[in-house]
Amino acid sequence: MSRDHRDDDSSSVNRRHFLTGAAALGAAVGTLAVKPAQAEVAFPTERGKFGSGGAATGAVNRSENTLYDCEVEGDLPDDLDGAFYRVGPDAQYPKPKSLEHDIGFDGEGHVSMFRIQNGHVDYRSRWVKNDRWKAQNKARKSLYGVYRNPYTDDPSVRGKSRATQNTQVWYHNGRVLAMKEDTMPAALDPHTLETLDGNYKFDGALEGQTFTAHPKNDSHTGDLLAFGYEARGLGSTDIHVFRISPQGKTLWKAWVKAPYCSEIHDYAITEKHIIFLVYPLAYLGEERMRAGGLHWGWDSTKSTYLGVMRRDGDGKDIQWVKGPQTMCTHVMGCWTDGNKVTVDMDGGDANQFPFFPNIHEPFDPAKAAGKVRRFTFDTAKRNVRSFDMQVMYPQYSGGLARQDDRYHTVPYRYGFLIGGGPGGGG
Ligand SMILES: [Fe+2]
Repeated sequence: MSRDHRDDDSSSVNRRHFLTGAAALGAAVGTLAVKPAQAEVAFPTERGKFGSGGAATGAVNRSENTLYDCEVEGDLPDDLDGAFYRVGPDAQYPKPKSLEHDIGFDGEGHVSMFRIQNGHVDYRSRWVKNDRWKAQNKARKSLYGVYRNPYTDDPSVRGKSRATQNTQVWYHNGRVLAMKEDTMPAALDPHTLETLDGNYKFDGALEGQTFTAHPKNDSHTGDLLAFGYEARGLGSTDIHVFRISPQGKTLWKAWVKAPYCSEIHDYAITEKHIIFLVYPLAYLGEERMRAGGLHWGWDSTKSTYLGVMRRDGDGKDIQWVKGPQTMCTHVMGCWTDGNKVTVDMDGGDANQFPFFPNIHEPFDPAKAAGKVRRFTFDTAKRNVRSFDMQVMYPQYSGGLARQDDRYHTVPYRYGFLIGGGPGGGG
């Protein structure tokens, strides 16, 4: 029912008058405190216009759930004992109407789990209750403006954390980490999903402000390897890269500089190397941000770089090598054989995100089509002019490549891609 319809419906109880009457009665008997009225929330009539979360599909949840015993189709193995965790953006409140087309990546993180044990499946979901969530919960409205643009926030939260932690979940050291690449993770209780720390910094030894949503586990040691880009503030080219023990202790860290500030959504690790891909989805600059603009835009005049560095060094050995223009967001697999590094990612020939504008030319859907691309680089050669990029399976297109997370760093046989090809999608 639309808000207008509700206000005009004379056949139903007038909700505002009813509540006013109830408050007056409560004050008379001393049970209800009368507070100044807060503005009603203006919910959009179309779910896709929340301005954050679910914009692509219209899917907004906004409801935390605890459901004991889901209905199960088929038979569960009696000895299946574990949990399946998920996270996604779920708008806590709709943004102002002027921001109803802001991108879905900015919805507040909402984590859910299916706990499977003794032939039963229990479901639970909880929002990541960080400082942003708490501030909006108290204000009963959206306080944060454009995706990754702090200049557009409500003055009451200016300078405060904009964390949403809505991109991926990862189990580490007795905690579920909810992650988003522009802030530190949130640490959640793995059984209850209650937020233990909305700005989790492990043992406190990390110096950067950001943490990727795609960390990797070392196949041999179980160490957590991760990085943060734009790690010294808005528009910075600083990348903090680090290794953390299974018990949460920082074992190694280094700083490197990117050729320019761009989205580095994922990265690759092998037994010997760490690899970054820098592509022209670039930071558009302070002036544009202060005018309320977007953080990212596709600047095709910038080059694509592959950065390769040794693990556990001081970072000074990093080599940035230019190559063919591409935008690849997710790593499927990677390994080092002798001196040769191989990285498989999915990506297009140019911008894949039409919601981040092309600066110099129209968006090209054909160039956006994601293919599995294999990057190779010989670390023994100096002054290499270009990295090599090969499209592996041109008949298949898709995105969100990954493999079994337990087997990063070494050669792999099975990779997964969501997408379509001969015979249909899936
Ligand atoms: Fe991702």
